[in-house]
Amino acid sequence: MNVESYDFPSRRYDLSVIGRPRPAVDALPSYRPGKDAAQAEEEHGIDDAIKLASNETPWGPVPSVAGALAGAIEGINRYADHRATELRERLAEWVGVEVDQVTVGCGSVGILQQLFLTYVDPGDEVIYPWRSFEVYPVFAKLVDGVSVTPPLVDNGFDLDAVVRAVTDRTKLIVLANPNNPTGTAFSTADLRQLLNSVPDDVIVVLDEAYREFMDPALGNPVTDLLPQFPNLLVTRTFSKAQGLAALRVGYAVGDPSVIESIDKTLFPFAVNAMAQAGAIASIEAHDEVMERVEQIKSERARVVSALREAGQSIPDQQANFVYLPLGESTMDVCTKLERLGLVTRPFAGEGLRITISSPEENDRLLAGLAEVLG
Ligand SMILES: Cc1ncc(COP(=O)(O)O)c(C=O)c1O
Repeated sequence: MNVESYDFPSRRYDLSVIGRPRPAVDALPSYRPGKDAAQAEEEHGIDDAIKLASNETPWGPVPSVAGALAGAIEGINRYADHRATELRERLAEWVGVEVDQVTVGCGSVGILQQLFLTYVDPGDEVIYPWRSFEVYPVFAKLVDGVSVTPPLVDNGFDLDAVVRAVTDRTKLIVLANPNNPTGTAFSTADLRQLLNSVPDDVIVVLDEAYREFMDPALGNPVTDLLPQFPNLLVTRTFSKAQGLAALRVGYAVGDPSVIESIDKTLFPFAVNAMAQAGAIASIEAHDEVMERVEQIKSERARVVSALREAGQSIPDQQANFVYLPLGESTMDVCTKLERLGLVTRPFAGEGLRITISSPEENDRLLAGLAEVLG
């Protein structure tokens, strides 16, 4: 219903004053997911659009995961295991930690929200370099936290500036690695320096949603850093490399005390039975999943080198997307690509983020970019 007032039955309701949302919520923008292909088709009167806007994988689940999902339907009349015991055990074994060092959430976004709820009181500070993943400012506002946002340098993070921004009100530092949308990444050696320089009571969240697409030479924070730094929490997801975005399952690895605290804010049965079954099957299908990841990485290399040869300046890319820092022409290029059926994710005045897809879709993208950028 989209009206400003209505009569029911003998009383007139003024919808502008129904309920009293907290000012922090009232001021929030509504979440706008990436545009999908059907929306673009309708908007531009075209019929073969492809969505390269949300960093999804182009393929459906591997066969064993599809089988596990079908099997999970059997038990759908019962609530799932709130603690996701089997999934946590498998995750702990998979990443090489104790089971009390792992938890799961409704996507890694769910875990991020839990972190803000757990650690940030009104007026507390949260540091995250900007531009980065768009939920960080939203979650900070939701809890009346104060965002402190050191600017990117050459599309990457200035970790020294992050350290300098720490005050005695700082509760969280959130670092997306690789960064969304710029695709740049730093190493565990760089992160070690930061961890050595921040107080123990500041939680450093490393958001590794795109970890599988990174160069392994950048290190593994779970083995390289966690044993030494209990204030580090690593979040990961089954949405990207594993291709299970719609199931909504993410996980976090950290110190048992941090895990115990954030678990208290997990709403009941947030990770549903299908999500748990799909994630377990996906761990078992790791080799098959990683073959797909390798395909995406080699396609990324192909797309990046084609664009660089065409004169585009592209930062080092470590995720399953490519970032074109187009500045003021971003929106124009985005609209022209959309008219060609290529739906990308623009950041007005900054750049365009484009998901790496199948070889055929990437060919279409390169042809479209050649036409639009000349
Ligand atoms: C940096 C970053 N973190 C987390 C997520 C969210 O992933 P999930 O589907 O696990 O909530 C995304 C998704 O786009 C992302 O870009």
